[in-house]
Amino acid sequence: MLKSTIKVSPNKIISEIDDRLYSSFIEHMGRAVYTGIFEPGHEKADENGFREDVISLVRPLNLDYVRYPGGNFVSGYNWRDGIGPKEKRPVRMDLAWQAIEPNTFGIDEFCMWCRKAGIKPMIAVNLGTGTPKEAAELVEYCNAPAGQTALSSLRCENGSKEPYDIKLWCLGNEMDGPWQICAKTPIEYARIAHESAKLMKLVDPSIQLVACGSSSAQMPTFGTWERTVLRECWDVVDFISIHSYYQNLDNDRPAFLAQNEKMEEFIHKVASIKDEIKKEKNSQKEVYLSFDEWNVWYHCSKEKQDHALWTCPRPIEEEAYDFDDLLVVSSLLTTLINNSDTVKISCLAQLVNVIAPITTVPGGQSYVRTIYWPFLMACKYGRGTALKQEIQAPAYSCKVKDEASYLASSCVLAKDRKSMYVFAVNKAQEDMALSLIGFEGHMTMWTSLSEAGPKENPICQKEQIVLKALSSNVFCFDINY
Ligand code: AHR
Repeated sequence: MLKSTIKVSPNKIISEIDDRLYSSFIEHMGRAVYTGIFEPGHEKADENGFREDVISLVRPLNLDYVRYPGGNFVSGYNWRDGIGPKEKRPVRMDLAWQAIEPNTFGIDEFCMWCRKAGIKPMIAVNLGTGTPKEAAELVEYCNAPAGQTALSSLRCENGSKEPYDIKLWCLGNEMDGPWQICAKTPIEYARIAHESAKLMKLVDPSIQLVACGSSSAQMPTFGTWERTVLRECWDVVDFISIHSYYQNLDNDRPAFLAQNEKMEEFIHKVASIKDEIKKEKNSQKEVYLSFDEWNVWYHCSKEKQDHALWTCPRPIEEEAYDFDDLLVVSSLLTTLINNSDTVKISCLAQLVNVIAPITTVPGGQSYVRTIYWPFLMACKYGRGTALKQEIQAPAYSCKVKDEASYLASSCVLAKDRKSMYVFAVNKAQEDMALSLIGFEGHMTMWTSLSEAGPKENPICQKEQIVLKALSSNVFCFDINY
């Protein structure tokens, strides 16, 4: 049997975990909105067309933010198309996904949906075809007090006297990507991001802004992009974004299970560029990382997808997740927790139907995919303080790393400081003995995840745990100081 040890103490901390680490994403893409969260006429839909069966799967996640309306979609989107009387809203071509956009769901519906689901909106503005003025006007429409301006009166007419008070905004999406509508060079983006940020913060100085980082670590401009954007925008932004999707196209399981090592490396690279610019500017201010798109995404690309163009909804990228994906998502979540000193926001991309933990049948039922379970566990038990670990575990060599650990883990001291949660993934094909040392306390819960959901295991001594081969586990300990 393999052997591992985690030494952890409630006094040795990485960081308080920002609740925004548990966020997600809904884009006007595929069936995320139409027949996903919004399906008027569905038997479970409320008077606004919001599917309550979907909301009841979203609520247990207790998500902090959901990012909207894109994604690539936002770079061709005019937010004004999605407000006002529905019969007057224009039907448009969505060039990002070559679908028809009926605009029957827009910013007002999204904010209403968020209120109902107990979530805060994180809104991306269009810096592709859009302008700084349009971005600032959207902030005004959403956040200005009733009666103050024409735009805030328009919001009242459209149903919300209360400002939406949206605190978190993204300055465009993946503007480095050649696929992006009106993609930009680093300096072109840096300038428009700076000017948009300036105007948006003049409208509402209380907002926080996320500048686009590279759309992946493989982009040819990765590094140059971050340096240019941060040099230009340091004083006006609060976060730089980081996006990554993980794949197993070669059917290389060991490498796939090591994707969290890749995520860690990417985070460290971006964080060190950010630190370099901070030093260069001799700044007291901090900029954090917003990992606002991450997930496993590759199953659909293995099959030919020939969904008719210019339809709505165009049912693309509906990933059927399996148990290996559950293990990878579990491991990625440990990495996000272990880097919570620099990563303050992270959005599982996406939430419903499109590369998502929740799936709906149009006119039918909704259900969850395997990756829902590790996400649920982290959302429930991963809040509080991330603790430092001294880990001893066997390693293996694969394409991702010469010494990839068979164990992925994170330890979280709960907000009440009375319990500690340990997330532990055994990636080996054999069982692994795990000894947890360095603190006083007793196990009160041991949950392991199957494709069908969490199942309880018998409580045991914390020095005598045996993690099953290929398993994702969550433990709870009461803590004696
Ligand atoms: O989440 C799906 C897509 O992936 C988003 O629209 C884009 O930002 C990324 O490339």
